Amino acid sequence: MSEASGPRLLAISDLHVVYEANREIVAGLRPTSDEDWLIVAGDVGEILSDIEWALRRLSERFAKVIWTPGNHELWTPQQDPVKLRGEHRYRHLVEMCRGLGISTPEDPYPVWRGPGGPVTIAPLFVLYDYSFRPAGLRTKDEALKRAYDVGVVCTDEFHLHPDPHPSREAWCHVRIAETERFLAARDESLPTILVSHFPLVRDPTMVLRYPEFALWCGTDRTDDWHRRFNAITAVYGHLHIPRTTWYDGVRFEEVSLGYPREWERRQTAPGRLRRILPAEETR
Ligand SMILES: [Fe+2]
Ligand SMILES: [Fe+2]
Repeated sequence: MSEASGPRLLAISDLHVVYEANREIVAGLRPTSDEDWLIVAGDVGEILSDIEWALRRLSERFAKVIWTPGNHELWTPQQDPVKLRGEHRYRHLVEMCRGLGISTPEDPYPVWRGPGGPVTIAPLFVLYDYSFRPAGLRTKDEALKRAYDVGVVCTDEFHLHPDPHPSREAWCHVRIAETERFLAARDESLPTILVSHFPLVRDPTMVLRYPEFALWCGTDRTDDWHRRFNAITAVYGHLHIPRTTWYDGVRFEEVSLGYPREWERRQTAPGRLRRILPAEETR
């Protein structure tokens, strides 16, 4: 079988199916072979029935789907009849995914054995802890005050509840400890592909139009994970700035679709799935 028609590991994030135009794109997503796997790196939507619609469709088309939550899945929107908050909402999403045969951060990490493999695919849910602060601001409170002063405040502050944890950063730190344990238990003879909604390193946030938004984009505590856990690629989204960058020789792929007002301005057609493996000759 030629590489052109062989199995592929593909990725996308930030489908935001609350927008009709994005729903149409999701409805049109197709594998290129019967054995393609798809990574969905969060922000499918906010309403649970919307999220289920999109993930069910993708799970019917791709041989395997791997999902990790974005911040939007963790909102408790007024319009959603399901009122679960925080950790309870996350666990509900995990069970929904399991019912669809989708791998989550709570399941044994799947191993891709197609071209470019074998490699362990690790979906990670670690959230953020307000450590990506502007220079000179030493605490979360100082940084949040600046963000409110300049009018750049992520909607998570109002809709992403950390229950039963006392704060989003406390939830993040619990997630980091659990995820490190999970990663330490993997098969260390295989390299990894780390999948997180939020970038594991801070550098990708340096190109944000509003630098204050970086507060809601990750945590300093994961900045060596790509080296520590033998990653060949890190897949992320959230920034809505699709691109490829390299850190310490590791490929980082921001794979977001984003909002219609964003993808309409891009040169490339929206909804192109990013090929993760087999890797293209990019450097
Ligand atoms: Fe997003
Ligand atoms: Fe996001």
